[in-house]
Parts: sequence; structure tokens; C-alpha cells
Amino acid sequence: MPVGVLGTGKYVPDRILTNQELETMVDTNDEWIVTRTGIRERRIVAEGQATSDLCYEAAQIALANAGITAEQLDLIIVATITPDMAFPSTACVLQEKLGAKQSAAFDLSAACSGFVYGLANAANFIATGTYKYALVIGADCLSKITDYTDRNTCILFGDGAGAVVIGEVPEGRGFKSFELGADGTGGPLLKIEGGGSRNPASQSSIDQRMHYIYMAGAEVFKFAVRIMGNAADEALRKAGWDKGDIDLLVPHQANMRIIQASLNRLEMTEDKCMINLDRYGNMSAASIPVALAEAEEQGRLREGDRLVLVGFGGGLTWGASALVW
Ligand code: ACO
Repeated sequence: MPVGVLGTGKYVPDRILTNQELETMVDTNDEWIVTRTGIRERRIVAEGQATSDLCYEAAQIALANAGITAEQLDLIIVATITPDMAFPSTACVLQEKLGAKQSAAFDLSAACSGFVYGLANAANFIATGTYKYALVIGADCLSKITDYTDRNTCILFGDGAGAVVIGEVPEGRGFKSFELGADGTGGPLLKIEGGGSRNPASQSSIDQRMHYIYMAGAEVFKFAVRIMGNAADEALRKAGWDKGDIDLLVPHQANMRIIQASLNRLEMTEDKCMINLDRYGNMSAASIPVALAEAEEQGRLREGDRLVLVGFGGGLTWGASALVW
């Protein structure tokens, strides 16, 4: 039996951080942010909220939509770069919150590509018969690692979680291909240096602002424009599809100009693309699954539709998948 999505769910915090508010925090303006990125506002977690709290809300909705209980889950994968803590994994914290007693659980680190990496992992566990039901979540609280004195990065990021339950689906539906990749030579372009074994947390690491995201924006932009098209093309080729076959593109929501470049490369128009970065900004691993869940909420997904998911992120990494809804 093929493997596919049985249910989706999303959660974003209530608090909205607008471009106008950012104007009071750093030397920027709404016009610059909108024209250079397409972002108008983003969601920020409440004091005390952490990534597993967002995961829990999204997971409950995905489980309900899939029509299964947490006890039926065999596997939980949480893709995140902002775990609750170094360990135990956020997936284990979530397993306890959900009461998913039968489930294996682990976190996956592939930055913004993490959700597609997680899907590929879980789909293979199910295809081999190892497991029946898997919960795959992309979730990040980027506000916790954003330097709100750095105008190059703080305008981009937001918080959220998107979840899917995957399992066996009827013939003709489900995942048709995965394309995953990495280029470690680009690692220094997008990173948090502090807090790991190389630079453990110390007064010096704090003073050097090593616990915040560092990003070489222009270089990452060039990489993203190239790799989003390449990865989507490769997923299409492996699925035996042409560009014209895509009913809906669900791209990582980093920058409207990057999405537009992907659409040009795929010879597609905006009406066949999920775009929500104007409301949420870049939520890293959460961007693609939140967009997917919103597509379903908005009735934009019909049985038999051909979807392409595609993202890129720190690592550098990329991931794409072609699937029939
Ligand atoms: N407001 C006003 N001016 C700004 C701002 C701002 N917020 N940020 C930068 N500028 C200025 C720069 O200082 C620069 O001024 P200068 O010419 O006087 O030096 C000018 O605007 C142009 O800067 P660029 O960096 O060339 O602007 P660009 O058009 O490349 O846009 C951006 C910058 C939006 C960051 C873009 O490069 C981008 O989107 N890059 C990819 C980011 C991305 O996708 N990252 C993935 C992160 S995923 C993760 O880590 C979780």
C-alpha cells in the first residue's frame, strides 16, 4: 500500500508582531520589509511557551483529522532547531504530553528543510512495515533565538507548528518521490554557534551574542533561488511528472522573492501556490506543514490533487516531495 497524509493540523501563537512594531525596535520600515520579503506580520509565543507546547496543539488537531488516537501512534518525529532543551528531545516531551505510550520518538535537525526530511523518514518506516502510524511535526520558536537588535534577521522570523499524521492510503494516492540534499560547505552562512559542544554556554558566548541566529542573507538568498527550483525539478523527475502536472506548490515561506523565483522556474502562477508568509514570516521547519494545514482548512486540497512540497534551510539542506492528495 502507498503511504500518505491522513490528517493535518497547525498552531500559531495569538500574539502578532507587526512591521510597524519592528519600526520602533530597529532601524527599518514597513515598506522595506514588504518589498524585500513580502512579510507584514509574524506570530510570537507567549512568555513561558516552548516548542513542545506548540507541537501539542498542532498534533491534537492532526490526530483528530486523521481519526486516530495518540495511543495508536508508533512514531513521533519533531523537526526543529529550537527544542525545549538539548535533551530529552522535544519529541519525547510531546510523547508524554500526548500520552502516546506505544510510540518511538526523536527530534530531527535539518533547519527549515526538517519537515520534508521528517516525512521521508516516517514514510520509509511505514513503507517497510516497521510502523503503521507516524506523527511528523515541523515546529520552531524562532523568536527565542532571534536578535531583536539585528535588523537583517529580526524582521524575518516567527513562531508556529504544523503536524501531519501519515500512514497507508489507497492506491494512486500518497508520496511519489522525495529529494533530500545537503551541502555542509555552506554551513557557516546560517548558524547558531553557541550552546553546543564547540562553544558551550558561557558569559563569553553570551557577550558575543553566539546564541542568536547568524545569517549571511544575500548568500543564502542566492542558494535558495537555485536550490528550490533544482529540488522541485528533481522531485518531479523522480515522480515521472511534468511541471504542468502540479496542482499546488507548498514552498518554504522564507521570502516572497524566493517563492516567485521558484514559480518562474516551474512555469507556475501564484494561484497554484500556498503563500502565507505575509501573516507568519519564516517559521523554519513549521512553514511547510502550516501552509499544508491551511491549504486543507481553506478547501484547496481535493482528492487526487498533485502537490509538490519544497524547502531549503541551514546546513545547508534542501528537501522536496511530490505527492498525490
Ligand atoms: N530594514 C531596512 N534596511 C535593511 C534591513 C531592514 N530590516 N535589513 C537590511 N537592510 C539594508 C542593508 O543594510 C543594506 O543596506 P546597504 O546597501 O546600505 O548596506 C540594504 O538594506 C540591502 O541589503 P541586502 O542584504 O542586500 O537586502 P536583500 O534585498 O538581499 O534582502 C534579505 C535581505 C531579506 C535578508 C534577503 O537576503 C533574504 O531573504 N535572504 C534569505 C534569507 C533566508 O531565507 N534565510 C533562511 C533562514 S532560515 C533559518 O535560519 C531558520
